[in-house]
Amino acid sequence: MTINAKHPVKSLMSHTLLAPELTQQITQLFMAAGCSEVEAHQVAANLVMANLSGHDSHGVGMAPRYIDAVLEKNLIPNSQIAVRVDSGMLLGLDGQRGFGQTVGVQAMNLALDRVAQHGACIMSLAHAHHLGRIGHFAEMAVARGWVSLHFVNVMARPAVAPWHGGDGRFGTNPCCIGIPVGMGDNANEPFVLDFATSLVAQGKMRVAHNEGKTVAKGTLIDEHGQPTQNPGVVVVPQSNGKYGALMPFGEHKGFGLAVACELLGGALSGGGTWHREDDGKRAVYNGMLSIIIDPQALGTQLSFAQETLAFIEWLRHSPAAAGSGGVQLAGEPERAARSQRQKNGIVIDDATWQEIKQAGAKVGLTI
Ligand SMILES: NC(=O)c1ccc[n+]([C@@H]2O[C@H](COP(=O)([O-])OP(=O)(O)OC[C@H]3O[C@@H](n4cnc5c(N)ncnc54)[C@H](O)[C@@H]3O)[C@@H](O)[C@H]2O)c1
Repeated sequence: MTINAKHPVKSLMSHTLLAPELTQQITQLFMAAGCSEVEAHQVAANLVMANLSGHDSHGVGMAPRYIDAVLEKNLIPNSQIAVRVDSGMLLGLDGQRGFGQTVGVQAMNLALDRVAQHGACIMSLAHAHHLGRIGHFAEMAVARGWVSLHFVNVMARPAVAPWHGGDGRFGTNPCCIGIPVGMGDNANEPFVLDFATSLVAQGKMRVAHNEGKTVAKGTLIDEHGQPTQNPGVVVVPQSNGKYGALMPFGEHKGFGLAVACELLGGALSGGGTWHREDDGKRAVYNGMLSIIIDPQALGTQLSFAQETLAFIEWLRHSPAAAGSGGVQLAGEPERAARSQRQKNGIVIDDATWQEIKQAGAKVGLTI
């Protein structure tokens, strides 16, 4: 995504915090909203990990929206998953409107137990509140040497236009694929592809709007269906009370994948698909279909490890294109951001920081 600071920058101030300090402050915020200390810390650590990974769109800037959703009573602190179907390799779970950072991890842990027993698991999770960075779940599986696929829909104001459509009809429906590379002494860092099926994530528009920046041509349409570079069209209601929309990535192909995420994450999980006008609620629900496979159970563990390694090596030997830093693989930018931000801290723009302070005030906490 190209973001240009052509427009007057709204907030020049920013706040730089080290991850432990930021985690502690956000933990206090969620405790004030009614989360147990364990849950508050789990949610805060997950959001801070998104910031560390370079995805500020899914970091602590989401906290004010979560607080609004709790106050609306549409996000229920300290919820647990409910098991609707459990037939060994198949799990049908309900997140009961709990924090995605809690119920999503519970759901994945249950699915990983099933993979250990049966070699694979198909798990659906309905009615989870925002699951945050989906790569978090794939990383749980690849850490055990397993492949992990995730199709997710977003039940909130529809922010993305269909290919050749003129208004928002569905969410930024993320798709994520985690694949371990090599094994044992020859294990490489895993491939973790994790992206919104919109051209850019909605949260990145919030960050750009808060920073007073414009975005690349072709990213957005306004409330009248006309192309625009102003990220505010998907962040705040426009003159006619309506919002603009993001474009899907990859033209008709990305649009197709977004629809598949809606149908698999929403319809197949039982969480539902979006087919109504915006109801103005602050809660964001996700439905997720996850497929996790142990290559050993498929009988290909050794060749899988060799082939993943050989193919990644092959890609790395491609000469760098002019003006580029050379080939990178999915997962690398996040790992590079983590080592840099762990050391130098996380920069929060002033508008986002003020929103976090206001969220604190709503639950009686001074930040
Ligand atoms: N829970 C939700 O409702 C929801 C909705 C949308 C997005 N998200 C999350 O938002 C996050 C950000 O999504 P995004 O679409 O903005 O991500 P993005 O456009 O930054 O793309 C991220 C993916 O591309 C890879 N990548 C980036 N640069 C690369 C390069 N030069 N070469 C090779 N690979 C590269 C990354 O490793 C990562 O896998 C994701 O974690 C996603 O799960 C969540």
